[in-house]
Amino acid sequence: MKIIIINGPNLNLLGKRETDVYGDQSFQDFFTELQFKYKEVELEQFQSNIEGELIDKLQEVGYEYDGIILNAAAYTHTSVGIGDAVKAIETPVVEVHISNTFSREDFRHKSYISPNAQGIVLGFGLQSYELAVQSFLTDK
Ligand code: DQA
Repeated sequence: MKIIIINGPNLNLLGKRETDVYGDQSFQDFFTELQFKYKEVELEQFQSNIEGELIDKLQEVGYEYDGIILNAAAYTHTSVGIGDAVKAIETPVVEVHISNTFSREDFRHKSYISPNAQGIVLGFGLQSYELAVQSFLTDK
């Protein structure tokens, strides 16, 4: 089982950024723990602050991997291009958010990812990513 976590803009700052919303753990720390816990999964991660790089990565892995966990961060709410890429590829995408975007500003209620996601996990902090991993390990 090959799964990639793709993180969008500013998620490289996890642990330093708005810690009241996003927590104080760095993504690298969390990811190392996740890899340790799910040794049976080939787990990779990719982060970019650049919209086109996220689209390139989705296209690159989207016909080969078993699962994609996508937190497109702010691009979730703005990017028709990332939404189209999710629609185009064959690998199922689970949309993830650390925060509960529906309890925040109105502009965070719109997602260009959701219509073509297999499912959505949000509001559970970094654990949202783990729940998404588990979703790929469960027979549907
Ligand atoms: C986020 C929510 C987005 O609205 C925000 O722009 C982010 C992070 C989350 O994981 O909660 O950068 O995707």
